[in-house]
Formats: sequence, C-alpha cells, structure tokens
Amino acid sequence: MDNDIAKVLYSRADIKEACQRLGKQLTADYKGKRPLILSVLTGAMFFTTDVVREFDEYSQIDFIDVSSYKGGMESTGKVDLVSDLSEDVAGRDVLIVEDIVDTGRTLKYIVKLLYSRNAKSVKICTFLDKPAGRVVEAKADYVGFTVPNEFVVGYGLDYQGYYRNLPYVGVLKPEIYELK
Ligand code: XMP
Ligand code: MG
Repeated sequence: MDNDIAKVLYSRADIKEACQRLGKQLTADYKGKRPLILSVLTGAMFFTTDVVREFDEYSQIDFIDVSSYKGGMESTGKVDLVSDLSEDVAGRDVLIVEDIVDTGRTLKYIVKLLYSRNAKSVKICTFLDKPAGRVVEAKADYVGFTVPNEFVVGYGLDYQGYYRNLPYVGVLKPEIYELK
C-alpha cells in the first residue's frame, strides 16, 4: 500500500498528538455533561477509538452510517441513511465524530436529524477539515487538521474501500485512480 502513496500528510505521531490535544479540549468542555459520542461509520472508526480514549469523562458511544460517496472520489450530492443510531438523543449533548468534512452535506444531514429528534446540543469533532470543498454551510467545533483540497486516504479514509488501515494520512499517486 505504501507504494501507492505520493506523499504523507500526517504521520502516526502527528495523529496521536492531535488526538491528545482534542481529547484535552473535549474533557474540559464536556465536564459533567455525559455526552453521547456519535461516530460516523465507516471512516471515523479509527479516529473515534483514539480520541475517546483521550476523553477523560463519562460518555457513551453510538454509531450512524450514512453514505454520500459510494466508494468513488466525487460526492453524489445526496446523503442516504444506511444505518440509524440506537440511542434516543432527546435532551442529550451529542458530539458527532467524523473523519472529514468536505462538501459539508453529510454533517448538515446528521445535525438536522439530531435536532429534529430534540438533541439538547450538537457539536462536531472532525479529524480532518477540507474548507475548500464546502458546498453547504457546515462548521466543525473541533478539528484535528485542516487539509488542502486533495483526495486523502488512510486512518479510516478510503478509496473504493481500500487504504482505511494505513496508519497515516496521505495523498494517492494519480496513476492509482486515473487507471480505473
Ligand atoms: P461530505 O462531502 O459530505 O463528505 O462533507 C463526507 C464524507 O465523504 C468522504 N470524503 C472523503 N473520503 N478522502 C476520502 O477518503 C477524501 O478526501 C474525502 N472527502 C470526503 C468521507 O467519508 C466523509 O465522511
Ligand atoms: Mg465518512
């Protein structure tokens, strides 16, 4: 897999540092609130497990699966709910944990869904933020790294389902996707 990567953007050490920084911030901000941490499958599972272990307060974890990419590189513009969360969010402080905010459509969809179910507060913690990709308004409250407008893989992020298990984040060599 390493051979398919043109450049590494964030190493395992960079990622660890970012998770510790965010964990400290979240611990301070959510003191006594017992938030529901809502991890967005599949991409955010790696970031979620690292960041929650830096969160030194009571919390519960749930998952939601939404799809907008269908494994390719372009957003389809439509967000589908693939699998709903199991907890009742009414009256709860919910923290969405995402792998990347790009067009913002996924986030907007989830935030709206949670408020329609009477969540008390909804905040967003994203591993990566790609502001140049924004199509709808969406703002993350906690950001690991702000990325340039490139398609990135690794640490949960995929190309056609692959590369999620790379321990770092990188940019694919153009020939990997140009040939397909
Ligand atoms: P939106 O566009 O709705 O994006 O903000 C949400 C989801 O799209 C995927 N995404 C990417 N996946 N490299 C990836 O591997 C990227 O550069 C990228 N940009 C968006 C991702 O699953 C995200 O949750
Ligand atoms: Mg995702």
